[in-house]
Amino acid sequence: MCGIVGYIGAEDAKEVLLRGLEKLEYRGYDSAGIALVNNEGVHVFKEKGRIAALRDVVDSSVSGTVGIGHTRWATHGPPSRLNAHPHQSETARFTLVHNGVIENYEQLNREYLADMTMKSDTDTEIIVQLIDRFVSEGSEVEAAITKTLSLLKGSYATAIIDKQDPDTVYVGKNKSPLLIGVGEEANVIASDAMAMLQVTNQFLEIMDEELVIVTRDNVTIKTLEGKVISRKPYTAELDSSDIEKGTYPHFMLKEIDEQPFVIRNIIQKYQNEDGSVRLEDNIRTAVTSSDRIYIIAAGTSYHAGLVGKQLIERLTKCPVEVHIASEFLYNMPVLSENPLFIFISQSGETADLRGVLVEVKKLGYQSLTVTNVPGSTLSREADFTLHTYAGPEIAVASTKAYTAQMAVLTLLAVDTAKAKGIELDFDPLQELGIVATVMETLCDQKERFEQIASEFLSETRNCFFIGRATDYFVCLEGSLKLKEISYIQAEGFAGGELKHGTIALIEEGTPVIALATQEHVNLSIRGNVKEVAARGAAPCIISMKGMEEDDDSFVIPTVHKLLTPLASVIPLQLIAYYAALHRGCDVDKPRNLAKSVTVE
Ligand code: G6P
Repeated sequence: MCGIVGYIGAEDAKEVLLRGLEKLEYRGYDSAGIALVNNEGVHVFKEKGRIAALRDVVDSSVSGTVGIGHTRWATHGPPSRLNAHPHQSETARFTLVHNGVIENYEQLNREYLADMTMKSDTDTEIIVQLIDRFVSEGSEVEAAITKTLSLLKGSYATAIIDKQDPDTVYVGKNKSPLLIGVGEEANVIASDAMAMLQVTNQFLEIMDEELVIVTRDNVTIKTLEGKVISRKPYTAELDSSDIEKGTYPHFMLKEIDEQPFVIRNIIQKYQNEDGSVRLEDNIRTAVTSSDRIYIIAAGTSYHAGLVGKQLIERLTKCPVEVHIASEFLYNMPVLSENPLFIFISQSGETADLRGVLVEVKKLGYQSLTVTNVPGSTLSREADFTLHTYAGPEIAVASTKAYTAQMAVLTLLAVDTAKAKGIELDFDPLQELGIVATVMETLCDQKERFEQIASEFLSETRNCFFIGRATDYFVCLEGSLKLKEISYIQAEGFAGGELKHGTIALIEEGTPVIALATQEHVNLSIRGNVKEVAARGAAPCIISMKGMEEDDDSFVIPTVHKLLTPLASVIPLQLIAYYAALHRGCDVDKPRNLAKSVTVE
């Protein structure tokens, strides 16, 4: 979702900003822009579409050592050059980029700017116009910005330039993520440290409702009430090679291939010297002392949560509920007496989850975030964090973060079972090691998955995934992967449910991908495959060794029965990848999607 970059230093900001925006492309966007400041004034360039299109409209003869840039994922008003950021105020004195949603922009418009016609359809423009109005009425710039930010309801991360003071960038934040990078001869602003690793690896967090005044050699953080805050930068533990594709054609393929390494990394990070699982004592206490776990997540992470529920319930006997974050507060269940909330989020920034976390904290309940980004908002604000150690995930469609989440939830379940004195009849770390090896074997058979994608998915308009028990959850994830990147209408169903309505959609040749990795439901899922085949469907069965039949399209080597989702999702990820590739789709940056959804 929208990304912000900013630079104030000695170099020409143009290339730094454009490269920074390219590093934020993974978040998803549909237009982009930059503003450069030099002695002649502020120069704004913006364009609908990709950064490549923006590069085409940026005047290469214009340079400036101060600038701000933005990738926009449209919420208010369609993607267009007009609605793209930066936005300028009526007098063109102030120029601004913004992420988030200003919920009361219409009300503010009526109250303060009724005499003005907004230039764009965005909620953002109100911020820059209000600042200009307050300054025109006599306010000092800092006071005008503070007043404006205090009036805003909703979420914002924003960077503002004043043409009359071009050596300062003003930065504000509430709910939406934003960092300040502290460099040698330059300071920078970025939604994600990755964007500005080119300048520095020293970053300062900004808390909600703070104003930051950034110059070339100074960063001043203040509360909106004017109190100066002192904060030390942290080192972003990111290797710039982690965020390059290397020889891979797409980040998604690279990230699929990284999964065996990620699982081994997780084993190593969470292993004691004696080979047992190591989690922090306070996390163990929080889990064992709760009477019910509520998992809150969205998208792929929600699917990992469904698998996590099974693992935790089977190994620890503690009841678990899994909820879609965006629905939880509206469909709130009756809570148990001593609940523990687990937030699963690759990015740690998903606004829907944060909304729930804020409520949970108000109610005084304990919270644990399972995330790939330990310094993220959800990690900072929850009581505890479990890191998934998957490394930066750039492709919008999540792959390695999903398997990492399931691996970490397995270890959480194992650790809890041990603390409760429940004996396990398997060695979890050894079994995860086997999963990593099986993942490698699967990744080595890409040609087979490419063939399956060609055979079943090159022409079709829709596709169904069916499975029973845990396979059903993997089908939900497999169908999400396919629809996200190939735009084939794909749906995952519990094998027995398809015939209660959806089977009406089966036509001659409709692909139905069935997972059969669970012994206790093997016969019943095969029965469901027969039902759809009898109505003309083209079935593609992916089974597990020991349960296979002659016509199966692919047989996965055996892994422990509780860990099958970590292996069975790999064929589905690769099939989705090749289906999208064959259909000419932009695999890493699918249309309309954002990697990190920072608006509710
Ligand atoms: C977006 C992404 C999905 C992701 C979901 C949750 O919708 O496109 O791929 O699964 O957000 O993201 P999170 O970072 O909270 O796991």
